[in-house]
Amino acid sequence: MSRSRRKLEHIRHAITRDEMAVNSFDEVELIHQSLSDIHWDEVSLRTNLGELELSSPLFVNAMTGGGGEKTASINRELAKAAKETGIAMAVGSQMSALKDPRERMSYEVVRQENPDGVVFANIGTEATPDQAKDAVDMLEANALQIHLNVLQELIMPEGDRDFTNRLRNIEEIVKQSEVPVLIKEVGFGISMESARQLKNIGISYIDVGGKGGTNFSKVENKRRKQPFESYNNWGIPTAISIKEVKNVFPESHLMASGGMRNGLDGVKAMVLGARAFGMAGHLLRILMKDSLDEVVEEIQHIHDEVKVAMTVLGAKEPYMLEGKPHIFTGRSKEWLEQRSTS
Ligand code: FNR
Repeated sequence: MSRSRRKLEHIRHAITRDEMAVNSFDEVELIHQSLSDIHWDEVSLRTNLGELELSSPLFVNAMTGGGGEKTASINRELAKAAKETGIAMAVGSQMSALKDPRERMSYEVVRQENPDGVVFANIGTEATPDQAKDAVDMLEANALQIHLNVLQELIMPEGDRDFTNRLRNIEEIVKQSEVPVLIKEVGFGISMESARQLKNIGISYIDVGGKGGTNFSKVENKRRKQPFESYNNWGIPTAISIKEVKNVFPESHLMASGGMRNGLDGVKAMVLGARAFGMAGHLLRILMKDSLDEVVEEIQHIHDEVKVAMTVLGAKEPYMLEGKPHIFTGRSKEWLEQRSTS
């Protein structure tokens, strides 16, 4: 199967809404407070994530590129939405464009559309430091995402099978990179153990990319003759993954993604310790079913939803949300008790 066909299949399967998906943010309750002492107009969405200055904690997470005109047009539209709303945006994996220059155009459009915006490049753990630099240069990117996706590769019929030396490889990239390197999962979450390994090689930016939204077990299983259905529920839910990483790596610059549906999910992530939150599937679904205008409206609406909680909870800036009173219920509570992360 050609790589570009695979990318289009991913999009088609990923936007099929998974009504059965359990979202861990439904098991995080923020405790209402009745005596806010701030003015709506004082609430600022600006947030700092290590060296990155973001005008909003929301960002468009990595999705596509490299599949011809179709993926170029998706990236172009997402970049226009990001520009109009001032949010950061990641592109999908650039590995194909690093091997085939004809594919570069579908990524480069993101920088062309949004010359002054914050843009994240994206590569796999197999990339060399030179390829990492090339991916960043292709977009004049402000940061570089490296995705961890072992389970996806294993379920993907044509996926990688050799995962040796990947941590060492990431370490080399980090040493040589001139921009911040963000490590992300793709919907299976990052555990305490993995976070510790990342910390030990000098990573400081982590996007937990947890379970609860786009499910790459299901997406890849739809592309298999004999699906590995027993893996459809594998992964660390996003809210829990934030706690896992925070527990062993409290000083990390933490982002949350995986199943973000609205501004309140984002607020919950920030209460748990994330400084930014990414959306992929939700925004893609709106773009594919409606249009660019609806994506822009949705982003503006999410900003307002975040500001509502910030005003109620008395947080003038996103970082002030961290640690606001909350409880965990249900399976998430059980998980945290057994993993001693609460
Ligand atoms: C993705 N995702 C992704 N991530 C990555 O690092 N590189 C990639 O190339 C892709 N490709 C991709 C394609 C499509 C169609 C989707 C929907 C997603 C994963 C994405 O960035 C994110 O981690 C997960 O989708 C979980 O977030 P959501 O979708 O639940 O908000």
